Amino acid sequence: MRVLICGASKGIGLETARQALDAGHDVRALARSANAIAVSHSSFEKIQGNSLKIEDVEAAVVGVDVVIQTLGVGLGELFQPINLFSDATRIVISAMKKEGIKRLLCVTGFGAGDSQAGISCLQRVPFQIFLGRAYGDKTLQEKLIKESGLDWTIARPGVLTNGPHTGRYQILSEPSQWRNGVISRANVAEFLVQQIKDEAYVGKAPVLIN
Ligand SMILES: NC(=O)c1ccc[n+]([C@@H]2O[C@H](COP(=O)([O-])OP(=O)(O)OC[C@H]3O[C@@H](n4cnc5c(N)ncnc54)[C@H](OP(=O)(O)O)[C@@H]3O)[C@@H](O)[C@H]2O)c1
Repeated sequence: MRVLICGASKGIGLETARQALDAGHDVRALARSANAIAVSHSSFEKIQGNSLKIEDVEAAVVGVDVVIQTLGVGLGELFQPINLFSDATRIVISAMKKEGIKRLLCVTGFGAGDSQAGISCLQRVPFQIFLGRAYGDKTLQEKLIKESGLDWTIARPGVLTNGPHTGRYQILSEPSQWRNGVISRANVAEFLVQQIKDEAYVGKAPVLIN
């Protein structure tokens, strides 16, 4: 499959790129600093671009089978208004529809959308103070994806670590199971790479924790 990863220069996106290459996929990496990605592979293409620029995204989706969105904001941006997730999602959905691409995988996080109900009473206030703006926009992002008519899967990891790729983690699909926990970026990447071909989680938004 030919996969576009929006936000592939670091974190989950970069790890997903590496694992998708290992799995034999062709990977196109879109990020503002894509040219600096330290991956060299005959099936790897870097596109230096911005997910908020329609022309960059429309060029990046050409010929792609699956789009994976792993965009993130820096710590310094958490206390400013955040529109990255919803704005970039509007753009990528429109670009995918123009190009006839159906499969969209997206990372949001535990606490976005209806998973907010799973946040414990103790965590609710700090979560709102530190992550309220980001997760408000991630909730809108999830709504846009769910209403898109695409074959979507939303991955909602708990707290991310740079721990190893173990393949041992839980995929919590049912609201009654949703709770916070930790998970490595590498294990989130494994989940995403499995969804490139697997349709078991189409239309689902599982929480991922160890
Ligand atoms: N930290 C946690 O504990 C936690 C928990 C749950 C969920 N999450 C979510 O998981 C996701 C991934 O997090 P992460 O820490 O692995 O990633 P990250 O290190 O925040 O990386 C974000 C990626 O997004 C790209 N990006 C940002 N703005 C962009 C733009 N306008 N155009 C193109 N690319 C852009 C960055 O590349 P450039 O800067 O090169 O453009 C980078 O590759 C985020 O949405 C995060 O909120 C985090």
